[in-house]
Amino acid sequence: MGDPLHTVMCELLGCRYPIIQTAMGWVARPELVAAACNAGAFGFLAAAVMKADEVVPAIDRVRALTDRPFGVNFHMFQPDAERIVDTLIAKKVVAVSFGRGPDKKIIARFRDAGIKCVPTVGALKHARSMEELGVDMLVVQGGEGGGHTGSVASTVLLPQVLDAVKVPVVAAGGFGDGRGLAAALAFGAQGIAMGTRFLMTRDCPVPQQTKQRYIAASTDDIFVTTKVDGLPQRMIHSRVANRIERSGPVSMLALALTSAWQLKRITGASVGQLLGAAREMTRGGGLTFGQALMAAIAPVLFQRSMLAGDPDQGLMATGLIAGRLGDLPSCEELVQRIVREAHERFAALGVPPRELRAAG
Ligand SMILES: Cc1cc2nc3c(=O)[nH]c(=O)nc-3n(C[C@H](O)[C@H](O)[C@H](O)COP(=O)(O)O)c2cc1C
Repeated sequence: MGDPLHTVMCELLGCRYPIIQTAMGWVARPELVAAACNAGAFGFLAAAVMKADEVVPAIDRVRALTDRPFGVNFHMFQPDAERIVDTLIAKKVVAVSFGRGPDKKIIARFRDAGIKCVPTVGALKHARSMEELGVDMLVVQGGEGGGHTGSVASTVLLPQVLDAVKVPVVAAGGFGDGRGLAAALAFGAQGIAMGTRFLMTRDCPVPQQTKQRYIAASTDDIFVTTKVDGLPQRMIHSRVANRIERSGPVSMLALALTSAWQLKRITGASVGQLLGAAREMTRGGGLTFGQALMAAIAPVLFQRSMLAGDPDQGLMATGLIAGRLGDLPSCEELVQRIVREAHERFAALGVPPRELRAAG
């Protein structure tokens, strides 16, 4: 009997279990990535919030902490994206993840370098276009997922994408245990990808005060807002998140300006530069100037929670699943628990492992 947990995803990425630790800005730092990989999952380093100069030291730090393969997440809209692409190719990372952005040429460059392209998509049309661009595998994130999120739930989006594409698919959005893994494999996915569940581990370097807010949150404490940067994003309620959600154009501008001063202290970006960035963001239409400025300073609000440990004055992106999680296992404990639970589900269903694999 073959092991149902040894899937195409494991072959493609070289990890032991079909579990991805997804990239999360200021969260998926080297310590978490290495712990996830050492536990047998496949971790993605969150480089989409890094300056180009920070990427090489972060990759080297992961390599100092683990000899397992790992990937790096980036976005084409971040400053110096071309340089980051060159860096990832030079450093020969095993895989890259991204949202929309890299074109066919960049994807071909990665693939020629033997680097697997594993984008995350939240809609069927994006899954189709990514497959056309030549990616190796898709992470399909249902609307339950953390961070920016779509509106179609995993139970609908996953089979929809599986029916439409030929590349291997990994399920994301609302996964956190072995039942979810067994269900995803039964759908025909090759594994699961989890963000929030890995944030809620002891190995995650986010300060304890912030992790406690994730533990305390029920599903009623979690909401979706478009007010931070114009796109739907799921959050845990906090003082700042609630002020943003309630604000009108004037109070939004006031709140954004106050934080802009703070961002200047942290990053050195002048208020003039921030106003320029905000003005750029309003060009596409749809955002008021106050909203655009808020989008430009959102990083400082996330850093307050994820780095400074001040969740009330910060923003906490989350998947809906935080509402049912109440513990902080180590990555090793988490992965072993998921593997055990998944095997228990298969045994309870009496499904011969080989048949299950054939469904994938
Ligand atoms: C705190 C947080 C930060 C995130 N930051 C990023 C990011 O920087 N880049 C990205 O592509 N996705 C980001 N995401 C989305 C995750 O990579 C992942 O797709 C999502 O969390 C999966 O849903 P789950 O939380 O239900 O597991 C973030 C999610 C969370 C919860």
